[in-house]
Amino acid sequence: MRSGKSVLLIIGGGVAAYKALLLIRLLKTAGIGVRVVLTRAGAEFVTPLSIGALSGEKVFTDLFDLTDEAEMGHIQLSRAADLVVVAPATADLMAKMSAGLAGDLATTLLLATDKDVLIAPAMNVRMWEHAATQANLATLRARGVAVVGPDEGDMACGEYGPGRMAEPEAIFAAIQEKLEESRIDLRGPGAGAEAADLRGKRIVVTSGPTHEPIDPVRYIANRSSGKQGQAVASALAARGAEVVLISGPVRLDAPPGVERRDVETARDMLETTLAALPADALVCAAAVADYRVADAADQKLKKADGAGRSLNLIENPDILATVSALPEGERPRLVVGFAAETQDVIAYASAKRERKRCDWIVANDVSQGVFGGDENRVTVIDADGAEDWPRMGKDAVAVKLAERIARALT
Ligand code: CTP
Repeated sequence: MRSGKSVLLIIGGGVAAYKALLLIRLLKTAGIGVRVVLTRAGAEFVTPLSIGALSGEKVFTDLFDLTDEAEMGHIQLSRAADLVVVAPATADLMAKMSAGLAGDLATTLLLATDKDVLIAPAMNVRMWEHAATQANLATLRARGVAVVGPDEGDMACGEYGPGRMAEPEAIFAAIQEKLEESRIDLRGPGAGAEAADLRGKRIVVTSGPTHEPIDPVRYIANRSSGKQGQAVASALAARGAEVVLISGPVRLDAPPGVERRDVETARDMLETTLAALPADALVCAAAVADYRVADAADQKLKKADGAGRSLNLIENPDILATVSALPEGERPRLVVGFAAETQDVIAYASAKRERKRCDWIVANDVSQGVFGGDENRVTVIDADGAEDWPRMGKDAVAVKLAERIARALT
């Protein structure tokens, strides 16, 4: 299942280094070879042993390892791969790359390579926003370095903002894009069948919250971050699907390799979803507002002294139920819904599956910080019963769900 392609992955020193391990697994599953260089700082976060076990190759750590120099010079190491990927790319690594420093193995390789370079920055939000980092970023971009992320969100240091490393699926999709750009055919004989098993399939994913206007400046919304839906879109794209992501207002960048259509209200989302059909599958991960204001004001509502105010709410269309009820031929072969519940999760979710006539429901218990968080604990319910998945990262849920969808469609 090897594609014959390989990536040189440089793991810098940051909390996000653990995500590089998942990236290695995605690359290996796709039949892409991975040779890893671990910086001294990176080795504070992940070990050569775990990387070696996942990549199946020796991990390079020291420029002055003479045995390696004899076996494979660093110039050769920097050029043997089809693409050089730096993840996490710390502020320090970006500064060194920009200045052309070559004081250790990683930076020497980055200076010596004749291959394309892709970086996934990861750092504290202030470091990211600092003029020095932004100038380095601009320099690297101008030199043709591709950049994926960073995402915005809660950070390990307790702050909030841009600086979190992109999710492994997003980096993987960016790698695939880069490899395809350089006209390397991953579909060639022996290409990773698992990774490409959704090639030729079109999948629509709804994601994020909807905003329902009260007046021109106010709206009704919910706490959905769009992370789970975007992770599902990325994981499907990583397996080769053509993905249209229909997203309510979120603070995330569109994942690479996915066409994102941004919408605001439930009615926009329905219209955009129907326009994106026909498709082989629809995944409704959006937290659509059940109600909208019947008579949203054209002008800003003014405060009436002392008096209360009530909003007249009417029901929104149900996207999942509408698409599930389409006649054969127009209905996607597989329709998957999510069910956010706070109690009696399985019972409510099973009833929801039947009521909305979708094929699967991914039920999640949102009573404990799932909204906006990075982890999810789900149960997948289909006509045959319920399958409990352990608590895991939203990106891992997405990868598992994409696998299940691929099995159902192929
Ligand atoms: N959904 C949808 N359109 C809506 C409401 C929900 O497509 N107007 C989809 C969601 O994307 C999700 C599923 O329906 O896949 C279930 O959403 P959920 O909010 O849990 O269900 P509701 O129908 O809103 O039921 P309730 O709020 O009563 O639990």
